[in-house]
Amino acid sequence: MNNIKLSDEAKDVLEKLISVFPLASRESCRQKIMKGIDYQLLKQSSSEATKDILLKALEETLAKSFEPVILKFKSPEKLSGIVASQKQVDKENPAVRIKRWDIPALNLDVQVKNVFALMASPRKNGNTDCIMDAFLEGISESGCNIEKKYISDLKISPCIGCMACEKKELETFCAIKDDMTDLYRKFIEYDAFVMGFPVYTGRECSQASAFFDRLKALRTKGHFQKLSRKRKGALVVTWGWPSEDSYDHVVENAMFILKLFGMDTAEVVTGSGFWEAYYEKGTARLDKNGMADAKEAGRALVK
Ligand SMILES: Cc1cc2nc3c(=O)[nH]c(=O)nc-3n(C[C@H](O)[C@H](O)[C@H](O)COP(=O)(O)O)c2cc1C
Repeated sequence: MNNIKLSDEAKDVLEKLISVFPLASRESCRQKIMKGIDYQLLKQSSSEATKDILLKALEETLAKSFEPVILKFKSPEKLSGIVASQKQVDKENPAVRIKRWDIPALNLDVQVKNVFALMASPRKNGNTDCIMDAFLEGISESGCNIEKKYISDLKISPCIGCMACEKKELETFCAIKDDMTDLYRKFIEYDAFVMGFPVYTGRECSQASAFFDRLKALRTKGHFQKLSRKRKGALVVTWGWPSEDSYDHVVENAMFILKLFGMDTAEVVTGSGFWEAYYEKGTARLDKNGMADAKEAGRALVK
């Protein structure tokens, strides 16, 4: 890897980019990028990495959420344009985008009658909530019973790592006696589970995180069997940066967590661009097609 040749311009960009990372992770980050460059050089039958090759390697190596950092070097004008587009709400051409994911049909033999919706965003009527409501509207057309809860109305303490759930099968599932006991039951018993959360600091908000950690108590022998009944999962996730795939890895991780608890994700709706002027509650509704897609995703979940 050390014999990879970089143009002077590529070297300069690489050093500037690496300096953005904390000292402790720079070397591993450099190694990863160098592997990416190596791959690009092979792909393009080139012997010297130009700035373009480096940028391509960065795009394919780093998580999508690093887009602003890469744009700083690739196209500072584009970066300033994106930042400027968030400063003022343009009702005709809003910088928000709601996307229904195209995921393979689950073909689960589940007749959905009861849906449990859990909103982890602390902002009622915020943008995650708006999109989830469109999703639930689609579900409600089928006449399903929907129960929606806001984590912010409940007491869900973080996992304390006591492992009491491993030692003894607890009726409350977890040694912490709070509103999670009811959520465990709903998570197990309802035919579909819809969870909404915003991205905070590059991952799910801490309310969602606490819920995910507490699910651990279901991975005990007795309780885990209850999760074998097929249920459908769905996610509604939003973030600020106006790129539709910036935090797909966060969504994919949430899907993986649900899978650990026996639930396959059938529908995902994500929303991006909720920052600066678009942070205001309800700006999601400006993307009318996206809201219609969210409603359609709800219909499809219970079909
Ligand atoms: C504490 C905090 C951290 C955030 N971190 C990020 C982030 O890392 N990346 C991002 O794109 N947006 C971030 N955002 C923006 C939110 O994800 C976005 O505005 C989201 O749509 C808010 O959802 P809500 O309307 O349901 O509150 C953050 C917002 C807050 C309040």
